Amino acid sequence: MDPKKVSVLVTGGAGYIGSHAVVKLLENGNMVVVIDNLSNCYKAEDQSMPESLLRAQEISGKKLKFLSVDLLNLTALESVFKSYHFDCVMHFAALKAVGESCQRPLQYYRNNVVGTLNLLDVMNKSGCYSLIYSSSATVYGDPTSLPLVEGSPTGSVTNPYGGTKHTTEMIMSNLCASDDRWKIVSLRYFNPVGAHESGLMGEDPNGIPNNLMPYIAQVAVGKLKELSIYGNDYNTRDGTGVRDYIHIQDLADGHVKALGKIFEKNFNGYNVYNLGTGQGHTVLEMIKAFEEASGKVIPYKIVQRRSGDVAECYCNCKLANHELQWKAKKSLKDMCEDMWRWQQMNPNGYSGIDNNQSSFA
Ligand code: NAD
Ligand code: WQD
Repeated sequence: MDPKKVSVLVTGGAGYIGSHAVVKLLENGNMVVVIDNLSNCYKAEDQSMPESLLRAQEISGKKLKFLSVDLLNLTALESVFKSYHFDCVMHFAALKAVGESCQRPLQYYRNNVVGTLNLLDVMNKSGCYSLIYSSSATVYGDPTSLPLVEGSPTGSVTNPYGGTKHTTEMIMSNLCASDDRWKIVSLRYFNPVGAHESGLMGEDPNGIPNNLMPYIAQVAVGKLKELSIYGNDYNTRDGTGVRDYIHIQDLADGHVKALGKIFEKNFNGYNVYNLGTGQGHTVLEMIKAFEEASGKVIPYKIVQRRSGDVAECYCNCKLANHELQWKAKKSLKDMCEDMWRWQQMNPNGYSGIDNNQSSFA
């Protein structure tokens, strides 16, 4: 089957990563249906779809179909599969806040694990056996050796969110072992950052950002006073944590490559790929890169380590380079410049309202 002609259901497609992948799919010529329960994205009452998806249409010049559906609502999910034919599903929908997952583990396991089970059940019933899954470097827990390869130990996760990603990976691996019609690609993302180069799409955190780069961007634009660096006593080159940051556009490209792979002849089973650059950067290096891109000074203070953080995490992504013919192309400079453009053009995200003081749908 020509991967450009396949129809794709995108779960959680209104969110940060999903919406960027949707643009790539539309540009690739795919028919795209997005389902999202709007739990972590902005939609104005008078809009037909979330703002992120309106902008995805604007950028690509193509149309998509949006349905407000929760993966936990099995009846609604079944009716989506009765109304449309899908050749493949890209499954982004999940709750992702690590700290919140420690306070609400049941909600996280229900949403991410039961949501995935419902999706797999309905796919099974409707005869759609191709899935591309959003997994995470979090499944590796605290790395025992670096760089991380796909065969590195998994499962000793440091928080319930990581538990949901590891559990869903196990479920999908078991499913593929039980029935060789299934073709599943699990993409283990490292640290996605940046924005679409147009400045029209980017990450729109609800409230105070948990992650480093959106926090830095909000300090640069004057919304937040200063960054707290969580520890400078790690065994790294400057004492701050090291991560493998990857541009959102490279990550989105990885999904289109995975779609091509899934529809290659003889491809089947459960397949895992790391998506990162293979390069680690410290927190201080990220601050410096963002200062250079934005021309702003980022004030910071050193505070205690954040519970559950690991010192270093970066990958070997050679498997994806070879098998998916995919390689991250964008530099740290691109990540910071694109993020800064998005932040300046949309200081209050998609709503235009200061979302540090408001709540989403
Ligand atoms: P996001 O919160 O921006 O997007 C997720 C979307 O899923 C949101 O629009 C939300 O409303 C929707 N959603 C959540 N639960 C749902 C449900 N039950 N039914 C329907 N829709 C639901 O997050 P993101 O950063 O775009 O992450 C996408 C995926 O990538 C997630 O699975 C996440 O775990 C994974 N991931 C993210 C990162 C990261 O740093 N952003 C890193 C590794 C993996
Ligand atoms: C990066 C570095 C922090 C904020 C998380 C999830 C992971 C994955 C990606 C989904 C670390 C430091 C951060 C701040 C700081 N998500 N930091 N001050 O923790 O690598 O990964 O997002 O799968 O599962 O855990 O990303 O951006 O939060 O932190 O000093 O205000 O920045 O200590 O060294 P992390 P992050």
